Amino acid sequence: MSKLGVNIDHVATLREVRKGIEPEPVFAALICQAQGADSIVVHLREDRRHIKVRDLYILKEVVKIKLNLEMSVAEDIVEIACKVRPDQATLVPERRQEITTEGGLDVVSNFKKIKQALDKLERKGIAVSLFIDPDKKQIDATKKLGIGMIELHTGRYAEAKNKKEQNRYFRELETAVNYARSKDLHVFAGHGLNYYNVARVAKIKDIEELNIGYSIVCRAVLVGLERAIKEMKMLID
Ligand code: PXP
Repeated sequence: MSKLGVNIDHVATLREVRKGIEPEPVFAALICQAQGADSIVVHLREDRRHIKVRDLYILKEVVKIKLNLEMSVAEDIVEIACKVRPDQATLVPERRQEITTEGGLDVVSNFKKIKQALDKLERKGIAVSLFIDPDKKQIDATKKLGIGMIELHTGRYAEAKNKKEQNRYFRELETAVNYARSKDLHVFAGHGLNYYNVARVAKIKDIEELNIGYSIVCRAVLVGLERAIKEMKMLID
């Protein structure tokens, strides 16, 4: 069975809508932990649109399960990661204007930059994973860097427009998982997974961990609304 990493970025997104103090992402992390999540995932974006540096420090202090920091290879971000020392860093590509991480890291073209970040992070005892597309060339380049784990981008599968397309991207994913395992890499996967499309991916037995964020936060808003209304009514009454 795959482990579940819960990305709580969008709890912080909600906080940033009002630039206030709630919802506190750290509380969310503790609930995920108590409910059996295997890791907490956050992305410190260069524009700090949701998770802030202070969140990282508090998470590092209170979270007992794995803390996985998604991050670009920008120098200042690498420096912050080296200070915070999460258990794992997942290197992702980052473009300012994107709504979410749009594709995997191009390891082939950014080999040197990734290597520099990797060396700094590993020196601090941080395990490093690369978020890449399900593509042999990227897997080979990861292996060449001496990295032992990857997260495969499931976006193409998750966003497929019809069944035929979904089948094609599912096969692409399966092929990449098998290829990466044949190279002795630990394989994680994520992006765009939700309550409708996760089961099929979860059946791929060599995927050790699925990282899911947006759909869990969306669902939490809906399934938690009943209690939220009851509590407010009680206070008003
Ligand atoms: N894995 C990585 C590397 C990501 O960048 C993201 C999005 O932040 C996720 C998983 C989770 O994606 P989603 O929020 O669509 O579940």
